[in-house]
Amino acid sequence: MTIWILGATGRTGREIATRVAARGGAPVLVGRNADRLRKTAADLGLDDVLVTDDLPGEIARRRPTVVVNTIGGYADTAVPIARACLPGGHYVDLANDLVAMPRLLALHDEAVAAGSTFVTGAGFGVLGVESVVAHLCADRPTPSHVRVDALPSVAIEGGPLGEALARSIVSGLTTGGLVFENGQLTKARLAADPREHALPDGQTAKSAGAPTGELLAAQLSSGAPSVVSTSGLMPTAPIVRVVLPAVGALLKIPAVRRFAVRRMAAIEGKPTPRPREHSWGHAIVTWSDGTTLEEWLRAGDAMEFTASAVAETAVRLARGEGQAGAYTPARALGAELAEAAGGTFLTSTWE
Ligand SMILES: NC(=O)c1ccc[n+]([C@@H]2O[C@H](COP(=O)([O-])OP(=O)(O)OC[C@H]3O[C@@H](n4cnc5c(N)ncnc54)[C@H](OP(=O)(O)O)[C@@H]3O)[C@@H](O)[C@H]2O)c1
Repeated sequence: MTIWILGATGRTGREIATRVAARGGAPVLVGRNADRLRKTAADLGLDDVLVTDDLPGEIARRRPTVVVNTIGGYADTAVPIARACLPGGHYVDLANDLVAMPRLLALHDEAVAAGSTFVTGAGFGVLGVESVVAHLCADRPTPSHVRVDALPSVAIEGGPLGEALARSIVSGLTTGGLVFENGQLTKARLAADPREHALPDGQTAKSAGAPTGELLAAQLSSGAPSVVSTSGLMPTAPIVRVVLPAVGALLKIPAVRRFAVRRMAAIEGKPTPRPREHSWGHAIVTWSDGTTLEEWLRAGDAMEFTASAVAETAVRLARGEGQAGAYTPARALGAELAEAAGGTFLTSTWE
């Protein structure tokens, strides 16, 4: 089973390649810079590399079983790369925004007709919360309201932030705040509803409203008309929350956005251990009769969970375990994918 890792020289690409190999898959490291690719391959003890600057063309010619897209910029890169996998090839990415994910999910009928499985959002946030929602909603009627919170804890390895991640952050800020109301995406204040969570392990974490893929995944896996989503990566300090909408509006200007991405990409991070032992996915689901259920997914480092989730997804698709269509990860392969990626579900009853 040939699994191509696009962006294999990057942070997530390297981790995913290692985990695909550990699961018995055959990763091919794909990139545009031969020297960087060879060095990565040598560091990882892998030897299958492919240098190309025409990803869709090369995929259509060589027909890998699964393509893992870690090059980022998913609003632009996901659809042409996924389409190149048709017919019969499968596709996985780590998108987490409300522009890219709906575009990929809109390919559902094409993927069904061609016998391909496309999975978008296979990282910690989306899988971490949608698996909890799927658990809580299994064998129950459609709930009236869902709240999800993604609380990642990540060690920083140091070095420049990089353009792929900078583009994702800027894209999140320009989307503005969003929630589902009456089944429709509706504008809300960015970083609304700040909250301090008492975590099951006795620690605390803060989060605030974020227009991320978690919101969409929670709505799709519950069918609830009313859904809100918060992220631990969103600032909760009052002064930052006040200026954030203005920053988001400024970043909608293309020249400002390009400048911000360039500057952010060059920011050098210091190696820093993860702030808490655990990352958490959390959901509170309410039904119209007043029943409310709450559950947590406990994971370790969110980046390690992400790499394992993507690798596990890719290997399962390579084995033919996905049904044809375009999905978020737990809808494609079941909520237990989160356990296979290193998560543990902790159920608690709401009073
Ligand atoms: N949802 C989640 O939980 C989650 C978690 C982590 C990351 N992500 C997302 O995943 C993406 C990758 O993150 P990262 O931290 O791994 O980034 P990174 O370290 O900057 O790596 C990006 C990789 O993509 C390659 N690349 C970038 N643009 C390309 C292009 N136009 N054509 C071909 N290759 C290209 C780079 O190759 P070169 O070496 O040639 O530049 C590099 O190998 C980002 O969008 C990030 O937001 C999501």
